[in-house]
Amino acid sequence: MDFQTIIYEKKENYVLITLNRPDKLNALNNQMFSDLDLAFRTIEEDRDVQALILTGIGEKAFAAGADIKELHDCDDRSGKLFSEYGSYVMKRLSELRIPTIAAVNGFALGGGCELTMACHIRFASENAKMGQPEVNLGIIPGYGGTQRLPAIVGKAKAMELILTGNMVDAKEALRIGLVNAVYQQSDLLQKTEDFVKVILSKGPLAVSAAIDCIETSERLSPSDGLAYESRMFGKTCGTEDFKEGTQAFLEKRKAEFKAK
Ligand code: COA
Repeated sequence: MDFQTIIYEKKENYVLITLNRPDKLNALNNQMFSDLDLAFRTIEEDRDVQALILTGIGEKAFAAGADIKELHDCDDRSGKLFSEYGSYVMKRLSELRIPTIAAVNGFALGGGCELTMACHIRFASENAKMGQPEVNLGIIPGYGGTQRLPAIVGKAKAMELILTGNMVDAKEALRIGLVNAVYQQSDLLQKTEDFVKVILSKGPLAVSAAIDCIETSERLSPSDGLAYESRMFGKTCGTEDFKEGTQAFLEKRKAEFKAK
């Protein structure tokens, strides 16, 4: 695979993607979206990949937003397409049925913040700053920010952040639930990888089914969501992993899951 703006590393059974435009604070340009699109497709098709970590190169930025130089040329028609393509790539990420974790190693602004929010979980370094500063440019978030931020931090806080364009630091991001934990910059990636390894020690089909239920619940009524959960619960009961997990418990040994 020939990526120009990201580094794609397959590590045993998970993938680490590093956004790699350090001189532009990893701003998301067209090439990066196309690289990410291909990377997410590749992950989707590779059944060995059971988790994904996204981070940015360097110690300053995860991603400082959409590339403002490219954005500057947009008019109303091309602006809509600009938003639709970015949203489509973020949707591909959000539809992966493996755990996806953003290791936010600095600025995550605009599209950068939206990319972290398309992941299931966010960890931040102490120097991280997150926000949706689009109103400063006379536009609104275009890659799902108006939809995902309220779902994560609540409507009022999302209104505040999107309408003022203010950034939050890591401490505040943790307080409002935008990130799950904050670590020293030097520990961030290791802590994220340790976390992923905990999940990878569990039954992969169960992990995937749980993600599916939680994600699907956003589109269903509470009673349909419960019915969906029961169907998925039944499915997990029909797996070899379930037999192995319960057998291992009864034999007081560690389960060896095979994703079957
Ligand atoms: N798009 C394109 N280029 C960007 C960028 C973006 N979103 N964010 C930063 N860059 C570029 C800068 O133009 C600069 O490039 P140059 O050296 O060729 O001039 C380089 O990255 C470093 O950025 P700089 O602004 O000099 O760093 P800083 O430490 O002074 O400020 C930020 C950091 C994040 C506060 C500032 O870069 C910023 O506000 N970026 C835009 C954030 C934004 O509005 N994002 C939403 C876009 S929709």
